[in-house]
Amino acid sequence: MCGIIGYSGGKQAAPILLKGLERLEYRGYDSSGIAVTDGGAISVVKAVGKIKALDEKTNGGKTPHGTVGIGHTRWATHGVPSDVNSHPHVSQNGMFAVVHNGIIENFAELKAELIAQGVKFASDTDSEVIAQLLQYYYEGDELDAILTVMRRISGSYAVGILCADYPDVIYAIRKDNPLVVGLGANENFIASDFAAALEHTHDFVQLGDGEIAKLTAHAVTFYDGDGKPLKKTPYRVDWDISQAEKGGYPHFMLKEIYEQPRAITATVRPRVKGNQIVLDKIAFDAKNVNRIEKIDIVGCGSAYHAGIVGKAFIEKYCRIRVNCELASEYVYSDPITDNRTLTVIISQSGETADTLAALRLAKKRGSHTIAIVNVVESAIAREADDVLYTYAGPEIAVATTKGYTTQVAALYLVGLKIAKIKHTVSDARYSEMLKELTELPDKITRALADIEQIKNYADEYAAHKCVFFIGRGTDYAASLEGALKLKEISYIHAEAYAAGELKHGTISLIENGTITLALVTQSALYSKMLSNIKAVQSRGGTVLSVASPKNEQIRENSDGLLLIPDCDDDLTPILTAVVLQVFAYYVAAARGCDIDKPRNLAKSVTVE
Ligand code: F6R
Repeated sequence: MCGIIGYSGGKQAAPILLKGLERLEYRGYDSSGIAVTDGGAISVVKAVGKIKALDEKTNGGKTPHGTVGIGHTRWATHGVPSDVNSHPHVSQNGMFAVVHNGIIENFAELKAELIAQGVKFASDTDSEVIAQLLQYYYEGDELDAILTVMRRISGSYAVGILCADYPDVIYAIRKDNPLVVGLGANENFIASDFAAALEHTHDFVQLGDGEIAKLTAHAVTFYDGDGKPLKKTPYRVDWDISQAEKGGYPHFMLKEIYEQPRAITATVRPRVKGNQIVLDKIAFDAKNVNRIEKIDIVGCGSAYHAGIVGKAFIEKYCRIRVNCELASEYVYSDPITDNRTLTVIISQSGETADTLAALRLAKKRGSHTIAIVNVVESAIAREADDVLYTYAGPEIAVATTKGYTTQVAALYLVGLKIAKIKHTVSDARYSEMLKELTELPDKITRALADIEQIKNYADEYAAHKCVFFIGRGTDYAASLEGALKLKEISYIHAEAYAAGELKHGTISLIENGTITLALVTQSALYSKMLSNIKAVQSRGGTVLSVASPKNEQIRENSDGLLLIPDCDDDLTPILTAVVLQVFAYYVAAARGCDIDKPRNLAKSVTVE
């Protein structure tokens, strides 16, 4: 949620920290701050609001002086957004400054204990307790103090630490919260997301749970939780920094919508080898597959919606029962799972706390886990038994677009792979679906060619307060994602409904002019959808249909129509998703919303 960057090198630190924070702004953004050491004293500057405010307060990074520093963007959890609650937090005597992501669960007890010892706190945050504890335990050996503090705090954390006695050094610690160390030439970095340091280096090391990193300009040393040195292997991130920039688009969201043909190609093409699907190192063989009695798909938000699309597809092709679960519910539901259940964990960021907890629980109960993840070496990718990366590239806009469609594509690959092994799909159908899958990128490009038409409808409906999305089968699954996209970025209340369910209560909300987007891509369900649409219209509702060419005759019974390119009925959710993303984007644009950074939301939700 919040973002961390740290720099130790030979250049003025502040501009590097500011630029890094800008790149992290999508993670959380009600306030920000930096701390820089300059020959023994720690200078701190903080600002409420966007990074621009911090930029102004530091004269574009000309001040404070110093070549070592840490920075933070905050998404408030404990204490309102304010200068005093923003990070970095400094210990009472100014010896330590810390930036923290996560939640210190026992902060109240620790704070009370320190207050009883005469320590004075400046903020309402849980994070300040780390700085005050460091000061409390510090007797000249900063590593000792850090190790003691790690033993005292519980909860989740990624922390960057400066100590005034060691002005060339940054320390970093983490538990259940992402933190990477970036390795440069005569400069080193810490970051909660490697996008923040990508313009300086492509070589990173993941800090593990309970580990410590000590960085100077010329060296990085790692320690375990007992203070013993650790050897860690760096990995290379091939993402290009231009991928993390807007590249001429007004918003990251629109850029990422347009990146979908490339993202789906990157996710699908390398895995389709002739008539074979090769899923990286995942050992799908007859023995493993025939043991699967049930599949649980687990994720949050859009990842969960991708799972619902995947459920329909996998059940149809593999004839295996699939449960799709919200990670936050799964963890507390005492799930029935064991080694006959395959658990598919979906997460773009690979760091979502609820999803990570679900993965750990599934593993503990003996289930084999496969993670569908975008961010390389993220916590979920590392902890799952197997990982299938989506190659969407960095996703910066808070609302996921290419992250979601590549997850759906990956689920199609998994479904077809299992179906082929189980012989639940005919050879002809299997080959046809492989061909269709590889044609999807071109079809997305064609869907985007009609962007003006989608924009016109978006402009027309932008003033509405409430929108319904209806569909049947996978169109219902796609409706869920369409409604989420619209509400999160445009703040219009949107609700997705299984079209046949409307009459069981919700239809009472339809009145003159209520907008309903009806998804009509499932030819077998056409006549049923037609009745549902008529029921909406006869109550005065306005219906904009999103249909496939096979169902184009729905035009006669719709107030507007958006056509997706012709495609197999089983794969339409990716194309309807693209159209609904564009629709949500232009509705939000017409309403003047902050599209890439919707209020109250953060990209990577690392708290439960
Ligand atoms: C919606 C959205 C969220 C995420 C959810 C899971 O546009 O982006 O609903 O899908 O927070 O995030 P990941 O996939 O990173 O686990």
